[in-house]
Amino acid sequence: MSTRGPNDLVGPRSVAVIMDGNGRWAKRAGLERIRGHERGIDAVRTTVTECARLGVQALVLYAFSEENWARPQREIDLLFKLLKRFLREERDTLMQNRVRLLHSGRRARLSPDVLGLLDETMAMTAGNDGMRLSLAISYGGRQELADGVQAIARQVQAGTLDPAAITEETIRAHLYHPELPDPDLLIRTAGEMRISNFLLWQVSYAEIHVSDVCWPEFGAEHLAAAFADYGRRVRKFGKVL
Ligand code: IPE
Ligand code: IPE
Ligand code: MG
Repeated sequence: MSTRGPNDLVGPRSVAVIMDGNGRWAKRAGLERIRGHERGIDAVRTTVTECARLGVQALVLYAFSEENWARPQREIDLLFKLLKRFLREERDTLMQNRVRLLHSGRRARLSPDVLGLLDETMAMTAGNDGMRLSLAISYGGRQELADGVQAIARQVQAGTLDPAAITEETIRAHLYHPELPDPDLLIRTAGEMRISNFLLWQVSYAEIHVSDVCWPEFGAEHLAAAFADYGRRVRKFGKVL
């Protein structure tokens, strides 16, 4: 049953979010950076439940980039501690909202306990028929393309793929989650106007909404503003309308 209210706009089918500004929010409040990450969990919960309620089919949240491995080890450890807590504590919310959890990114550098919790939560929610939520963790857009190109090259080497037969569809089929629709709307918080290696292939025709609000403060009203902004966009996909 849809819970879309009469005043909710017909929104994007697929949404991606660069959750930025946790550190700045904490600094402004006179707190340690990690307190910003902690508060960011509340914004994640709100965004997930609101997107599910508004009928979004796929939501990708950028939680930890390949480049974020260069942060101080203490911050990395605390970020993964929070991620594990999120995976343990939000299972009920995910099940109640019929959300299916996925992971986008490389597994190689993730610890066994993070991978274990991710795998358990993905298995637990695999039968859910609602919104797909992909957490981009140890994710980089360039790395995703490099991983895909390696897999394609192996098929060429094995003689099962003719290089002349490589099309956009071949590349798409080798992304981490080819089944997810490209984002219609890309939201970035904390006012930064850059992509930071997120979904490079998939954002080709995404509408970009930059919110000045830092991620820990990003609430349902800010998401609604992003959707309203999206609703005013004219999407031409290169054509003349
Ligand atoms: C986003 O907040 C969270 C992650 C990248 C993990 P930041 O930690 O980048 O916060 P700022 O950009 O320093 O304010
Ligand atoms: C992008 O934010 C990565 C995530 C939100 C996980 P960053 O804070 O790492 O990006 P830059 O360094 O400002 O480009
Ligand atoms: Mg940042």
